[in-house]
Parts: sequence; C-alpha cells; structure tokens
Amino acid sequence: MRDGLREANVPRCHDSLATTRQAVVDGDVYNSHAEWRRSGEIVRVKGKVVVVTGSARGIGRALAERFIREGAAVVVASDIDQESLAASCAEIGATPQVADVTSESQVKDLIDSTEARHGPIDLFCSNAGISHPGGPEVADVDFEHVFDVNYRSHLYAARNLVPKMTARGEGYLLNTASAAGVLTQIGSLAYAVTKHAAVALAEWLSVSYGDRGLKVSVLCPQGVRTRLLLGERGERDNFLTPGAIEPSEVAEAVVAGLADERFLILPHPEVAEYMRRKASDYDRWLRGMRRLQARVRENPGTAMKT
Ligand SMILES: NC(=O)c1ccc[n+]([C@@H]2O[C@H](COP(=O)([O-])OP(=O)(O)OC[C@H]3O[C@@H](n4cnc5c(N)ncnc54)[C@H](O)[C@@H]3O)[C@@H](O)[C@H]2O)c1
Repeated sequence: MRDGLREANVPRCHDSLATTRQAVVDGDVYNSHAEWRRSGEIVRVKGKVVVVTGSARGIGRALAERFIREGAAVVVASDIDQESLAASCAEIGATPQVADVTSESQVKDLIDSTEARHGPIDLFCSNAGISHPGGPEVADVDFEHVFDVNYRSHLYAARNLVPKMTARGEGYLLNTASAAGVLTQIGSLAYAVTKHAAVALAEWLSVSYGDRGLKVSVLCPQGVRTRLLLGERGERDNFLTPGAIEPSEVAEAVVAGLADERFLILPHPEVAEYMRRKASDYDRWLRGMRRLQARVRENPGTAMKT
C-alpha cells in the first residue's frame, strides 16, 4: 500500500485533516489526524535502528524504554556504568554496549559495531551528561571533564555519523542539552557553559546539513527526577526539584518532538517563555536571575519563580 492520505496529500504534522480521512503511513492506516499525530513516534521510530548514550538510568533509560515500546527494530543502550547498564537492559529489552562518550574511539566503535550488526543508525541520541558545582574556581581538569561529556561527546557522534547520514540523505541526531543551554545554570558554571556549547553545536549542524537530509533536535528540559538532579539517594535539595518531572514525561515530549521534527524539544513548555523574556530584555532577565540566585543562596530548596 502506498503511503499517503486516502483522499488528499501525504500527511504532515501541521496539516489539519478531516476525521473522516485516513492517513496511510508505512502501510499502517490511521483514522484521523489526531490518531496519526499520536502515533507520530511510531512513524519516526518503528522499525528503526536507535542508539541512546547515558541510558543505564534516568532520561536515557526512559528514552530507550519508550523507543522499544514504540517498535524500534533495535535500541542499543550505551553507558559507562557497565553493571547498571546490564541490569537496565535486561529489564527493558535493550541491547547493551558499554562506551565512555568522552573517548572518540569508543563513540566510533559504538557507531561502527551497531551498524555492522544492525545496519545504518537511523536515530542517535547523544544523551550522557554530568554536572559539577562551582564557578571559575573549578579546576581545569574538572571543567574539561564536564566539557568532554556534555559537549565533545556530541561532536564525536556528529563527526562519525554526519558523513554517513548526509551520504544516505537521512538520519536523525537527538542531542540532550538542557534548559541551562538556553538560559543558565544557577550554581554550575561548567554546566551552563557546556550546555550552551551543546545547543550551539546542534544549531550549527541543523543549519549546515538540514538541507542534506540530516535531522537534528536538541532536548532542553529543566528539572527531571533523576540522580543528576536529586543525588544518588534523592538527598539533594535543589530549587528545580519542586517543578521537576519524571524521565517518562521527557520521553513523551521527545517522541512528540521527533514526530514533528522539531529542533527545540522543551518538556517544560515554560522554558520557551523564559527564552522570550531573555531575548526581549536581557538586563531585566539578568536582574531576575540574580534575585533567584540570592534566594537559592539563602534556601537551596526554594521553588523557582522567574
Ligand atoms: N535531570 C535533570 O534535571 C536534567 C535536566 C536537563 C538536562 N539533563 C540532561 O539529561 C541527560 C541525562 O541526565 P539524567 O538526568 O538522566 O542523569 P543520570 O545521572 O540519571 O544519567 C546520566 C547517565 O549518563 C552516564 N554517563 C555519565 N558519564 C558518562 C560517560 N563519560 N560516558 C557514558 N555515559 C556516561 C551515567 O552513568 C548515567 O547512567 C544529561 O545530558 C543531563 O545533563 C538532565
């Protein structure tokens, strides 16, 4: 069966379809635009070869789990933490491959061995990330490590995948940055700077290769209830905790964003408003952020109000 609408055009996410029309995509029939839109993740992920880094837990694990549920042909889950990765993959049915994303040779090996076993990678989710508290006093070696995990990992993935994806005329890079990459991060200079770099890299890739079939999305959540935010035993008091969402909610936003091929994926929609405020009056935004910084200094668990 040819893909398309039974009565009209091939569906795009922004087409408004009468509920009586049926969309046919990959041989599957959808009875309405809403149904097709809800299943957009299936259109994007079903039957696809997917890799997710930093997926032994947290957001990466939620992404891997969701992609498997949506019918990906294979989800290769990768992490530096071998033990947690093995346990997680056994639970969710992903294929484990240990890799340290700060090593280009290990990122290359993750890509090459996945493609040798399963065929071309359709969707590569560069998700591993870390934080480190402090400002300019942080030692270079620690700052560099955050830079390696939060930025260079995306560069290594792009360096080894963009030539293949543009040669095929298709391929998708999903890079996890953070709302800190478009706003800032109270209490962590290294996180703020490296996440801005991650957003800049994704923008550049989209501008440079978007017309050659490369799709790029950048994921920019605010607080998410993971170890990174809450600490190993959930002990960390953080101003983002009151508004934090579950990793599964991030995965939900991701599949919707991928279906729309939206560059900026914001699981917390209010981040778009904060970006608008920042762009429309930078000095006012900075004054507001200083007030937030002062409140956080007094009470680290204070709820965020901007
Ligand atoms: N949790 C939040 O509030 C939040 C908000 C915005 C963005 N993010 C981003 O989401 C991504 C996932 O973070 P999370 O919240 O799920 O944290 P997490 O700590 O639960 O998971 C991060 C995973 O990355 C792995 N990892 C760390 N260093 C690695 C390396 N060198 N190579 C391979 N894997 C490595 C860890 O072992 C861990 O399994 C990160 O990029 C993070 O910056 C998180």
